Amino acid sequence: MEPLFTSLVDSLPSTVPFVGPEALERKRGRPFRARLGANENGFGPAPSVIAAMKDSAAEAWKYADPENFDLKQALAAQLGVAPSNVVVGEGVDALLGLAVRQYVGEGTPVITSLGAYPTFNFHVAGFGGRLVTVPYRDDREDLEALLAAVKREQAPLVYFSNPDNPMGTWWGAADIEQFIEALPSTTMLILDEAYGETAPETALPRIDVSRPNVLRMRTFSKAYGLAGMRCGYAFGAEKQISAFDKIRNHFGMNRLTQIAALAALKDQDYLKAVIARIIAGRDRISRIAAANGLKAIPSATNFVTIDCGNDGPYALAVLNALIERDVFVRKPMAPMLDRCIRVSVGSEEELDYFEQQLPQALTSLK
Ligand SMILES: Cc1ncc(COP(=O)(O)O)c(C=O)c1O
Repeated sequence: MEPLFTSLVDSLPSTVPFVGPEALERKRGRPFRARLGANENGFGPAPSVIAAMKDSAAEAWKYADPENFDLKQALAAQLGVAPSNVVVGEGVDALLGLAVRQYVGEGTPVITSLGAYPTFNFHVAGFGGRLVTVPYRDDREDLEALLAAVKREQAPLVYFSNPDNPMGTWWGAADIEQFIEALPSTTMLILDEAYGETAPETALPRIDVSRPNVLRMRTFSKAYGLAGMRCGYAFGAEKQISAFDKIRNHFGMNRLTQIAALAALKDQDYLKAVIARIIAGRDRISRIAAANGLKAIPSATNFVTIDCGNDGPYALAVLNALIERDVFVRKPMAPMLDRCIRVSVGSEEELDYFEQQLPQALTSLK
């Protein structure tokens, strides 16, 4: 006899949504030369952020402020909302789990796009929800179909990201606002804006925390270059935000992370400079794709999804040929999207290496 899992945990597959580059390196027995697969920001955090972390490293013996007070104040000021409209957590990933837990029990229908960000699906499965997926249309999340699915299933939760991962595409603010207007008042929308900073301003809806059925989430992992520190935030109506306090891990935040995020928010000049480099990197990846006869899909994120011009197995072969050549990239797996590979913006040197290896990878498949 051994301890019994709950029937829910017993029923879950033992899969994990991501295989990290470190695991691939261990398997390959050698490191990658270009780490362009995890949508990290290889330009790294601002020097001012690194200095702030160094200065406070010796304070690591203290727990972090469980209220995230200073960071919430700073975020609220930037967003033009009250601190009570903001919750801070260990990345968008953790906040997604907490949000799902608030609205999803066993069998609850939850709407998302087929092939969208898998961590959300992982949390839905973990709370016993029933995922109902809608295919992308023209490489974008299909807002109309998502809304129709919400209504058909009477789903209490719908999720999409704008700009989107894995395609990098986006909707304009007016389209998102129209979606919100049409959403049943009993359905919560999680609008994941992990890539909000690298998107055109016209893609971000006006901030309105009066609606109880919209939670928007952002992160320090992408434009701010702090993926390894794990810090994200959600903003929305006060009652819905305060519900996170009922279930969150109050001492989950890292003290250095709070300090890093605060310093990062203060250094908006660095952020602007990095965003310019990300945009230049996107253009460069698109040019590399074109030079190899491939089509880059326009992106508002820190990565570019490249249509390999053939089917899923072919794109997978391109991906594997790049990995063999020490270039870490990933690819969408859902039907139709799987014809692509996804390349994150990296340093000049990493993109040089990608530029050099891609033609060889493609030639090896002929
Ligand atoms: C759409 C989307 N949401 C959330 C995340 C993860 O954000 P965080 O690092 O804040 O958990 C990612 C990272 O790739 C993402 O693509």
